[in-house]
Amino acid sequence: MKKTQLLALFLLISVCISACGQSQKTIRHVSEEVTTTETETVIEQKEDNRILIVYFSRYGNTDYPEDVDATTSASIIEDSGTFGTTEYVARIIQDKTGGDLHLIETVTPYTADFEELRDVNHNEMAENFLPELKESDLDISEYDTVFIGFPIWATDVPQPVLSFLNQYDLSGKTVIPFCTHDGYGAGSSYASVQEASHADSVRDGIAIEAKDVPGAADLIQEWLSRIQVITENPDETSAEGVKNEILPIQIVVGDEIMEGVLYDSPLADEFREKLPISVSMVGYGGREYYGGIDFTPENAEGGQLHFENGDITYCSTNNSMAIFYAQTDRPNLTMEVIPIGKVISDLAVFDTFSGNEEITFRVAE
Ligand SMILES: Cc1cc2nc3c(=O)[nH]c(=O)nc-3n(C[C@H](O)[C@H](O)[C@H](O)COP(=O)(O)O)c2cc1C
Repeated sequence: MKKTQLLALFLLISVCISACGQSQKTIRHVSEEVTTTETETVIEQKEDNRILIVYFSRYGNTDYPEDVDATTSASIIEDSGTFGTTEYVARIIQDKTGGDLHLIETVTPYTADFEELRDVNHNEMAENFLPELKESDLDISEYDTVFIGFPIWATDVPQPVLSFLNQYDLSGKTVIPFCTHDGYGAGSSYASVQEASHADSVRDGIAIEAKDVPGAADLIQEWLSRIQVITENPDETSAEGVKNEILPIQIVVGDEIMEGVLYDSPLADEFREKLPISVSMVGYGGREYYGGIDFTPENAEGGQLHFENGDITYCSTNNSMAIFYAQTDRPNLTMEVIPIGKVISDLAVFDTFSGNEEITFRVAE
């Protein structure tokens, strides 16, 4: 029943979303709102980078009937305990970073009924209502980096997240959003976090579809490594003892040579083995170049429907690589892409390319 209602909601959302049809190899995109995040700032690898993982989840904020379980609620994961979907992601981040966890809890719990909850949320959003949060002894001044996690509600953050951002002073801190959703991506939530947090720096977030959350540990690890929260120093290891090494590469377009990296993941490793790789790429939408590749990677698991500027990605749907270089008013993709690396040079040069370019990826000289 709840799934049907969710579907109806998303169908309603989707008719408001503009999609654009293209040729067979084209990656198609739907637009919601622009997300703006900083991609260049690097969190220092300092020992006193104290990390807090704040999250809001329906579970923990809802009066569920006693017999509720994972089969009757899309919002609960059972795995050596019962967890909200976003809570599950928060705990993986905690496991990998060693940070402290904090649940955002409202004084008044939310209803377990999806339709009622949807209406409550719409009203709260329309009135810009900030629900009162339970008192807590959280001392935000103890932390340098604050992850903010939430489920997407109506393509944005739930209002209690805004209550939290309104209540706690995050100025001078690094804020990193993450979210779970049922297929429509992060929407405008990252922009909302950026606006409400007044943080010094808001880093690239991760959006994970609820169905993928139980198997998302590797994806989360790769993201934490990419945004440099967990070490890339081969001598140091993350909480799970996994080493994270990146490979410096160059991206060559005519006379232009850009610097970049390939990540350390099973998928990226398959690309490493093929270097140098030359791909005929076409520009699309003022934001990306993409093109088909002549081998089929075996480790194409996971994927996401958003991108960060500079992302080098693989898309298994059309066996293509892409380089994303600019956010536009179409931040969300309709085909999942998997980041395998990043261009770290100035991306403005992409605006000077012709629209059809032979792009070569090679190990940095
Ligand atoms: C009121 C409400 C609105 C939602 N709106 C969206 C939406 O706009 N897009 C989407 O992909 N998922 C939406 N969802 C689904 C949740 O984001 C998703 O199930 C999430 O993983 C739940 O996380 P939680 O268990 O931590 O609460 C919505 C769920 C609720 C309850």
